[in-house]
Formats: sequence, C-alpha cells, structure tokens
Amino acid sequence: MSATIKACVIGYPIKHSKSPIIHSHWLEKYKINGVYSQVEIHPDNLEQDIRGLIDAEYAGFNITIPHKEAILELCDTVDDTAKAIGAVNTVSMQDGKLHGYNTDAFGFTENLKSSYDFSGKALVLGAGGAARAVLHGLIEQGVEHIYLTNRTRDRAETLSQMNDSKITVIDWNDKDKLLSEINLLVNTTSLGMIGNPDLEIDLAALNSKAVVNDIVYAPLMTPLLSQAQKQGNRVVTGIGMLLHQARPAFEKWYGIMPDIDEPLEDIVLK
Ligand code: ATR
Repeated sequence: MSATIKACVIGYPIKHSKSPIIHSHWLEKYKINGVYSQVEIHPDNLEQDIRGLIDAEYAGFNITIPHKEAILELCDTVDDTAKAIGAVNTVSMQDGKLHGYNTDAFGFTENLKSSYDFSGKALVLGAGGAARAVLHGLIEQGVEHIYLTNRTRDRAETLSQMNDSKITVIDWNDKDKLLSEINLLVNTTSLGMIGNPDLEIDLAALNSKAVVNDIVYAPLMTPLLSQAQKQGNRVVTGIGMLLHQARPAFEKWYGIMPDIDEPLEDIVLK
C-alpha cells in the first residue's frame, strides 16, 4: 500500500481556515490516500516548525495569515506569479526543498472567466494582500486599464508600482465617479463581510454591461452584489475564488486537478 500523502494549512490563528474542508472533500471524492490538516504556527517559530513538516515528510502546505510574505524567504524556489504578488500561498516540498507558488490570482480569474472577458476598464477597491492577486490576475489576462482606490491612498500608490502604465490610483472619495466608464468592479476590501461595516457606494451610474465581483463570501450575497443585481448588472460571488485557488495546490500534492461541485460549495458555505 502506498504511503498516506500529507498536506496542511499553516497560519496563526488557523481555526477559521476553510482549506481543510475543501481538500478533505476532494480526497474523499477522488479516493486518494491522503490527509489534510491545519497546523497553527506562531510567527516566532515559522522556520523551525516548517523543518518539522519537512521531517514529517509532508507533500506541502497552504499558507494563510500572517505567513504569506515571510514564507517567501524560506522557499528554495518561488514561481514568477508569487514573486510578482509578493506572497506565497502554496508550497510543495520535494527532497527537503520548498517550492513556493501563489494560486490566488488563478482563483480570482477562474472565478470570473465565465462572466467576464477581461476587456475594457476595471475599478478595484482595496489595496491589501487580496488586491495584489486581483491586480496581477487582471493584468495577466490583458485588461485594458485598472483604476485602483483605497481608503489609505498610500497603499494603493505602492501597489500601482506593479504596473504604472496600466494602473491609475484614484481617491477613495471619487470611487463612484468612474462607474459609467468601467465594465468590471471588484471589491477586495473587507467591507460587507459579516461583522464589518458595509461598503458605501451608489451604483446608479454603473454601466449596465458591467460585471460586479466581491471577493467577500460571507455573506455570499454582499450588500454590494445585491445592489448591483437589483439594477440588472451581472454579479460574481466570492466563493469561487476561494475554491479555485485550492485546485492547483491539490494537484501539486495529490496529482489530480479537482473539480468544483455543488456539494463542496454547500459545505464550505455552511
Ligand atoms: P487582505 O490581505 O485580506 O486584503 P488587508 O491587508 O487587511 O486584508 O486589507 C483589507 C482592505 O480592506 C484594505 O484595502 C483596507 O483599507 P486600508 O488599507 O485603508 O486599511 C480595507 N478596509 C478595511 N476596513 C475598511 C473601512 N472601514 N473602510 C475602507 N476600507 C477598509
């Protein structure tokens, strides 16, 4: 019998991670002899605890807050996407070496693909870690131009250095002034998430062909998406990004590119 393939998600804290539910569903679905667990690692112990995962012969791991940037330094190789985003969310381990990847941009673009053709201009709200992956995905897919806005303007200015000619920073107070020009609106802020304030924006002037995507998935229909849907705009919820980003990671460790099915969406949203 072949050995059980082990993978996990590391973070601090870790108990809110949805990754174990997602990967365990696929392990069962594809009848793979594998386990996927969660391992809490304090930032002070990152290097030492990762040595422990190597010694325990893990195939790899996902990385969540707050280790996504720090892990970059510990990787033996880092792929171009993770370098461009400046963060690693997936590591595959071979012969004691750590290979780092970032699958968040893939998750974002895969989720949008069936509703949006990546032509035209986009408005991206927020300049945190999630925004980096969103901007990278949009640029890679050839979007015409990106307007970027954030409450703290400096963070947006820093992010815009990813591609000065394609990204224009606008003031947070001006975010509803470009709505007739864009054909994609993406919220990458935590506004609208359960327990957080709503995103205050009036979509009345939004181009009727524009697609609205929220990367917040709790609730699934955020106030932003409800407003957009009410006025007839196409909406894309955030759950797909979470599920799609997990697919290439699963493939790296367990050898199968998994599909997203309805039961998986249901258990993740429960
Ligand atoms: P993540 O890595 O998940 O993107 P983050 O780095 O904490 O998380 O970023 C959260 C985003 O939500 C930021 O763009 C943040 O804006 P600031 O950079 O100004 O903090 C945004 N955000 C959070 N609370 C907000 C609020 N009340 N109003 C406006 N933006 C907010």
